[in-house]
Amino acid sequence: MAAIDTKNNQAGQAIKPPRHIAIIMDGNGRWATKRGLPRTAGHKAGAETFRKIATYCKNIGVQYLTVYAFSTENWKRSADEVGAIMGLLKRYLLEAVDTMERDHIRLHFFGDMTPIAPELRALAHETDEISAGLPEGDFQANVCLNYGGRDEILRAVRKFAAQCAAGERKPEELDEAMLSGLMDSAGIPDPELIIRPSGEQRLSNFLLWQCAYSEFYYTDTLWPDFDEAELDKAIAAYQSRDRRFGGVKK
Ligand code: IPE
Ligand code: IPE
Ligand code: MG
Repeated sequence: MAAIDTKNNQAGQAIKPPRHIAIIMDGNGRWATKRGLPRTAGHKAGAETFRKIATYCKNIGVQYLTVYAFSTENWKRSADEVGAIMGLLKRYLLEAVDTMERDHIRLHFFGDMTPIAPELRALAHETDEISAGLPEGDFQANVCLNYGGRDEILRAVRKFAAQCAAGERKPEELDEAMLSGLMDSAGIPDPELIIRPSGEQRLSNFLLWQCAYSEFYYTDTLWPDFDEAELDKAIAAYQSRDRRFGGVKK
């Protein structure tokens, strides 16, 4: 694992960023509506913000960036909107296949990929394979697609139950580390910081298992307007927090 170097932020200040930042990319629809544009235009703008913020995270030495792109509940939206989001993801993956090796960006997916279109799944598989060939210390973006925190826990528990039924494991063997190892996030440290733009102050089924001791940062800025300076503000807020993990400050 590569050591986290101290890097300079946009304002030229030396910072030691969290190792893992997670973002609920919310507010695309409102951003578009405010401009009299269709909601899909907001998703397009949001995808650009993701590219920009991922690059910035990589440059300031964040090792993992986990983004909520599409939840298990987002299928409730119109077919047009769902199709537009999937189309943007496809475009991003096509681009990633050509550039991730050059840019040293590893990509990983969290979520249940079974209902995702075969073409998109094949691309995700391709980016997984390219990622496996890149050094482990390289920056990694985790894209949450058809992801729900409860669904992730259920799938992990089902895997464990199947292992028990097959006689490979015993129920009393299950501990936190074993269950973590069955999650989509296996092997990835929990996010120190979870950011939600758009003014909503809720998790909406994001990283329920992993957020046990995460610091939360909320901002009214809508995701398409989120930029490097906003991320610097979130990191500064995180750095001012007193993380006690249930202990008492000495
Ligand atoms: C987040 O933006 C993107 C997805 C949930 C896919 P929204 O589309 O939820 O934007 P708002 O919350 O309606 O503004
Ligand atoms: C959470 O945003 C999901 C993503 C950003 C992908 P939503 O817009 O779906 O959440 P709610 O409906 O406001 O809780
Ligand atoms: Mg929303």
